[in-house]
Amino acid sequence: MKTELLGGISARKFLRDYWQKKPLLVRKALRDFVPLLTRDELIGLACRDDAQSRLITQKNGEWRVRAGPFAARAFSRLPERQWTLLVQDVNHFLPSARNLLLKFRFIPHSRLDDLMISYAPQGGGVGPHFDSYDVFLLQGMGCRYWQISAQRDKTLVAEAPLKLLRDFRPEQEWLLEPGDMLYLPPGYAHYGVAKDPCMTYSIGFRAPSYQELVTQFLVYLQDHTVIKGMYRDPDIRLHSNPGRISREMLSQVNAALTNIKWGRDDVKRFTGMYLTEPKPHVFFTPPSHPMPREEFANEVRKGKLRLNLKSRMLYRGKSIFLNGEVYTAGPSALRVLEKLADRLALPDMEELDEEALALLYQWYLYDHVEIELVAGSKP
Ligand code: SIN
Ligand code: CO
Repeated sequence: MKTELLGGISARKFLRDYWQKKPLLVRKALRDFVPLLTRDELIGLACRDDAQSRLITQKNGEWRVRAGPFAARAFSRLPERQWTLLVQDVNHFLPSARNLLLKFRFIPHSRLDDLMISYAPQGGGVGPHFDSYDVFLLQGMGCRYWQISAQRDKTLVAEAPLKLLRDFRPEQEWLLEPGDMLYLPPGYAHYGVAKDPCMTYSIGFRAPSYQELVTQFLVYLQDHTVIKGMYRDPDIRLHSNPGRISREMLSQVNAALTNIKWGRDDVKRFTGMYLTEPKPHVFFTPPSHPMPREEFANEVRKGKLRLNLKSRMLYRGKSIFLNGEVYTAGPSALRVLEKLADRLALPDMEELDEEALALLYQWYLYDHVEIELVAGSKP
């Protein structure tokens, strides 16, 4: 099926020919683009301590990076040009941002990171750089010049407070207008400069390094490995070099280490838990006056249940992963929960599986799912 979002090419063709391979420029990816928020609302998010934000300024070729949360007055003292405010995880705050992300569901949720939104007055940008993830750069308000390059030289400016390519050699350039979008695969050099006050929406898809995956898997193993026994040496021999580690000792340590075992089930559990683990600044606030279970069940049947905007949910086989935890469920409960993980909300239904309801109610008490009171608003 052709999609306007991808400039009339099908999602299948996009994945085959562009995804992780080459850039794609789409003019009018979103027709009649409606901005998700204003500059002042973005600044409001940057002042919250549950949002991650950065302010990048440039003066006489000197770059400066400050991390949020910011006081609102920090923005009244800024120069008229050449600065950028970046706010991560805007999808944690705005239902409309989540709806925007849902347009990209031809890529699995397991790859999605977040929606970052930047605001820059004229001349603002974050310098020439490359990112380690796939990104769709959707132009919101205003216009931005983008230059890109397939260059192999990834040498960075030494001692700069942000990642800046030392020798950026642009190969293509465009002026993006509201609703235009540029897809870039990981490692593709790019440089965006605001032509006038502008906002850019970065829909980012994470690609963890193998080092990160293995490090986190070792943390998982540490929590899931129990090895019995302890070091013994009843046959120890008299040593003339007490400072030396004996061969017997090394063999015994080696034998103990070979007891570390993991199987495909651990790989599955780890992957689900790792990919749904909330970022460190994310907090859930359990409802202070939760509705009783029966009332909750009625709301769920009416199609009012949705995932908390901050929640991450995935599944595989009989396992459901939600915010770093793993749950198992029987086949009919799974059908309901898988729907929630795919659509991030549940449709109305006449029958509600009891096992699914029990889990959903538990998650509601944790604030991992919520009941939508008015369409599009947080209860
Ligand atoms: C921006 O929105 O200013 C920067 C986005 C990027 O280069 O990744
Ligand atoms: Co970038």
